[in-house]
Amino acid sequence: MNDVDFRKRAAARAAVDEIEPGMLVGLGTGSTAAFAIAALADRVRAGLTIRTVATSRATEAAAEAAGMGVLDMADFGRVDLAIDGVDEIDPAFRAIKGGGGALLREKIVAAAADRMIAIADASKCVARLGRPMLPLEVLPFARSFVADAVAALGGTPILRTAGGAPVLTDQGNVLIDCGFPGLEDPAALAHALGQIPGVLGHGLFLDEIDALYVAGEDGVRLYER
Ligand code: A5P
Repeated sequence: MNDVDFRKRAAARAAVDEIEPGMLVGLGTGSTAAFAIAALADRVRAGLTIRTVATSRATEAAAEAAGMGVLDMADFGRVDLAIDGVDEIDPAFRAIKGGGGALLREKIVAAAADRMIAIADASKCVARLGRPMLPLEVLPFARSFVADAVAALGGTPILRTAGGAPVLTDQGNVLIDCGFPGLEDPAALAHALGQIPGVLGHGLFLDEIDALYVAGEDGVRLYER
């Protein structure tokens, strides 16, 4: 295991240590969240009783493969605790997520969580957001309209593709990755993106994250909002 994976696993394990018996836990998506799923599965095998919901089909499959049952989020208005990775996070707990394409379900679970914990290796921590592309989940019907609207906001929209075809989300929508270099006002941008018809979700998580476990050279640290 390389240093980055070692740190992702350390942050994930620290977050999973917060899970208490009987909790309904939101499972994140991505490589860091995968370490949390593995750590939680270890605790379940050791006797912990919890319930889970998943932020993607991939996470659902991983949790089930690890021996955990996964419930349908449609049946729950809130979850006790959610644990998920980030693509980038700033000192105000504002993050960019969605590199793995699961941003819409991730946002719903994060918003529903009484406590939303971000987990990251230290390379994800930045003074100012804007380095990674900002993903949008977009109704396919609105693909070109949304791309034009993003350009009008000063962004560079790129349709996410694989093998020459658009990548489809778990909901059958497309993803538009947007370059907004030196993102100056995340709140204003989030508001503007939310006003565009056809944008079903964006990867700016400005209010949802309550705590951050970050692992660096000197171990794991917890930051509370
Ligand atoms: C998935 O859609 C994303 O939001 C991921 O949670 C985020 O990109 C972090 O992924 P990694 O842990 O793989 O870097």
